Amino acid sequence: MILDIKDLCVSAAGKEIVKGVNLKIKEGEFHVIMGPNGCGKTTLAKAIMGHPGVKVTKGDIVVDKQSILGLSPDKRARLGLFLQFQNPVEIEGVGFVNFLRAAKESQTNNTADIKEFMGEIRGYTEKLAITNGIIGRSLNHGFSGGEKKKAEVLQMAILKPKLAVLDEPDSGLDIDAVKAVAKNINEIAKKEKMGLLVITHYNRILSYMDPQFIHVMVDGKIVADGGKELVHKLEKDGYDSFVKAQNDKK
Ligand SMILES: Nc1ncnc2c1ncn2[C@@H]1O[C@H](COP(=O)(O)OP(=O)(O)O)[C@@H](O)[C@H]1O
Ligand SMILES: [Mg+2]
Repeated sequence: MILDIKDLCVSAAGKEIVKGVNLKIKEGEFHVIMGPNGCGKTTLAKAIMGHPGVKVTKGDIVVDKQSILGLSPDKRARLGLFLQFQNPVEIEGVGFVNFLRAAKESQTNNTADIKEFMGEIRGYTEKLAITNGIIGRSLNHGFSGGEKKKAEVLQMAILKPKLAVLDEPDSGLDIDAVKAVAKNINEIAKKEKMGLLVITHYNRILSYMDPQFIHVMVDGKIVADGGKELVHKLEKDGYDSFVKAQNDKK
């Protein structure tokens, strides 16, 4: 799959937030968008997934040469997109395992062999240090912030999307959990040859990951593209130099 974001403008509550983003992600590539709080990262992620709270006012989002702007989130998921939200929803009454199984079955049109399926889940719960308790509970219901994040990595591992978009996968995690989550995302994406777009305002998670392309977002625009050297520049200078350069342009 190739995701092609073309001159995309997105607004929420009547305010323009994403202001002309161009981004192309080819099969199996690992991209990171970094940017300060409030620059529009989550709004961009919501537009990719078709979240009803945001509105695309200009430009296009193309998957394999077809515009996806008219498609529901569910249809986008069937094309192979997976989005991890910064604040996952809680669904009471839907068991986590059943949810995963239903999602997998609707994707493959096959009934998953329950023994095999549970075996696969168990492999990942060990790697992610997920306590057994949450697997038996309702999806995200009463999960701690860290448990929600881990549960989503587990969903990604099981569903094997063509492209996963992960918004702040490290938010709310303690140091050990950041490491487990980041390493597993990196490993799973590599193993399954998934495309990956990780969105973060903080470079900590990147010490456990191997992204190929880094994009810096400021005030609704991508203002710099590069490799991991950009992360080191951010570690040294912070976002200030990018914000200043952007303000000088105005
Ligand atoms: N539904 C909304 N209504 C009003 N303002 C919003 C809405 N969603 C986002 N914003 C504003 O848009 C800006 C960008 O938000 P967001 O995309 O969440 O940034 P980031 O994820 O980079 O921190 C912020 O100033 C935020 O307050
Ligand atoms: Mg955000």
